[in-house]
Amino acid sequence: MALNTFEKSKAAMARGGKILAGGVNSNFRAGVTPTPLVIDRGEGAYLIDVDGNKIIDYYMAMGPIILGHNPPTVIEAAKRQLDKGIIFASQVEAEFEAAEWVQKLVPCAERVRFAGSGTEVVQAAFRIARAATGRQIIVKFEGHYHGWLDNVLLSVAPSLAAAGSATAPNTVAASPGMDPMAAKNMVVLPWNDLATLQARLAKRDVAAVIMEPAMCNTSAIHPKAGYLEGVRKACTETGTVLIFDEVITGFRVSAGGAQKVLGVTPDLASFGKAIANGFPVAALAGRADLMDQMVPGKVVHGGTYNGHPVTMAATTATLVELAKGDVYRKIEKQGRRLMDGIGTILRDHQVPNRVQGFPGIFHVALGTSEPITDYRDSLKSDKARYVKLAGTMVERGVRALERGAWFLSGAHDDEVIDRTLAVVEDSVREGLR
Ligand SMILES: Cc1ncc(COP(=O)(O)O)c(C=O)c1O
Repeated sequence: MALNTFEKSKAAMARGGKILAGGVNSNFRAGVTPTPLVIDRGEGAYLIDVDGNKIIDYYMAMGPIILGHNPPTVIEAAKRQLDKGIIFASQVEAEFEAAEWVQKLVPCAERVRFAGSGTEVVQAAFRIARAATGRQIIVKFEGHYHGWLDNVLLSVAPSLAAAGSATAPNTVAASPGMDPMAAKNMVVLPWNDLATLQARLAKRDVAAVIMEPAMCNTSAIHPKAGYLEGVRKACTETGTVLIFDEVITGFRVSAGGAQKVLGVTPDLASFGKAIANGFPVAALAGRADLMDQMVPGKVVHGGTYNGHPVTMAATTATLVELAKGDVYRKIEKQGRRLMDGIGTILRDHQVPNRVQGFPGIFHVALGTSEPITDYRDSLKSDKARYVKLAGTMVERGVRALERGAWFLSGAHDDEVIDRTLAVVEDSVREGLR
């Protein structure tokens, strides 16, 4: 197999590093081996980088690209809206239409608000929950990511030593420069552990519990049987607002999000990423009585670019496609094939592994074959070995995240999956010796 080289990406990154801080506009795009790629364009399931390498993409922009790169209906809808002007600080019909689609598809969505990023709508959810309950404390869980701001970038990927007790974890800041006061009202608990949460909620001083309903930022972990139902009941009984952060799972595991698939409806839910196939859109959706606090004179939520007309047209076009269901059927088939195929190749080469998650977002761990059910389980995997595998694969034409996550789209067809499995086989043979 001829190997890709990345000389032009490396040269462009060297130039970029002198202009952009760290050479990137998000820390999460840096530090990739052999180099962060510089992309020329996307085509369906493929990326074409500045070196001319045609690479099968499983980053899918870290979640947003669900229909494949450059789907015609979404791009045409955005262009049509752009021809009418850019932004007006008024409402446009496209916003109402997009909100109606979210309401139609998502169980909890009695009301909707749009914004530009997942980070922002999570903050809006906290503010609403505090205003509604008169309480200050928010519970989050170890290994879950809810954006980069000071009050929530806590215990996202702490070392075991820093994390402390398994049932009463330390609250570990994930960046220098964070305000320690912002963490004062955040309690970190282990996820998938109902008894510990029930005991904490019994004090009746928690405004909200926030979680990814399936923990896709760490190991694509499903909730244990009965866990979400138990959380729902405990929140209702103690007057606590339940927030599902569906920025990854929303519109990726189904058109109604994880809440639809898993059958548990939160009070509020945050969405982003796949909602507009890559246009910068996020949404907060939820119970009318909570959401209706965001009116003049009450809970403030603003943003110059919220509900940007071009992105709203892209949202509707994306949701129209997703509502048809074909994309999920394709992803179900191809994702399962890929998950099974990767597991089989690794087993055949005597590499202990665990492949778990959903067909549209799954995770591959090396060095352990046990089910991963919480953040601390995920620390047992051999991350350095996986990074080596990811580096070997991209040289052979398959790009997947170094943290083990694989995102699929409706453009990943039989041929793409066959090629991917051939690359995985070759990479395991050559790269994991
Ligand atoms: C579950 C979850 N919540 C929130 C965010 C933050 O979203 P954004 O990057 O759009 O601010 C992310 C981003 O990866 C996420 O995965």
